[in-house]
Amino acid sequence: MTNPVNGNPKENAGFRAAEYVKDGMTVGLGTGSTVAYTMDRLAEKIKGGLRIIGVPTSIQTAMKARERGIPLASLDDVTEIDLTIDGADQIDPSLRLIKGRGAAQVRERCVADASNRLIIVADASKLCDQLTGPVPVEVIPFALGHVIRRLETMGGSVVVRDGVKKDGPVLSDNGNIILDYHSGPINDPQGLETEINNIPGVVGCGIMAEFSNMMTVIIGENDDCRILGINDL
Ligand code: 5RP
Repeated sequence: MTNPVNGNPKENAGFRAAEYVKDGMTVGLGTGSTVAYTMDRLAEKIKGGLRIIGVPTSIQTAMKARERGIPLASLDDVTEIDLTIDGADQIDPSLRLIKGRGAAQVRERCVADASNRLIIVADASKLCDQLTGPVPVEVIPFALGHVIRRLETMGGSVVVRDGVKKDGPVLSDNGNIILDYHSGPINDPQGLETEINNIPGVVGCGIMAEFSNMMTVIIGENDDCRILGINDL
């Protein structure tokens, strides 16, 4: 199916990704506004007879999938995921990512890690020459002060992410606190990812530098899409 000529890059990217979903697949469902368009299209296809099982990466995605009639399983219920479709906040030329604007990066990483292939859907505003952050970091409440101090000694500044329509910090779907680590331009994404993830108390950060070799990026444009990375899905 060709994309609708609708002037909506996110919708174009989201719809195109749905074309890679085949009958019988287990599909990881990422979080965010672009993947929501993929779920719109998958819901249409399910009404037309497509049979899939979705594995959601957040409470929000599970709710949206249920509204659309997409059958769901948890990560515990499946042994492998054929394909995951997810969004991103920054994408560098080597297809390294920053994720976690929606505080879902830990579950997103678990689902991506269980997947055979990963499609990232985004508009062109997410492309960058170099990752700059901020890097979302999920932290267990017990270790909050310790992790902030460790991140600050690495040279950047740290902001505890506040809730919207909630006083105080955002709590992730896992009940943890989200920090935004402002490191400035990131010269070694893989190194910084490892360094942050190795701080005791960190559950996971939003740099994803290790998935490029199984990734296709679909960049939505006004009336079409650009495909980056592996395109032999
Ligand atoms: C959530 C994410 C999202 O995938 C990312 O923020 C992209 O969202 P959108 O498609 O709304 O721009 O990482 O934690």
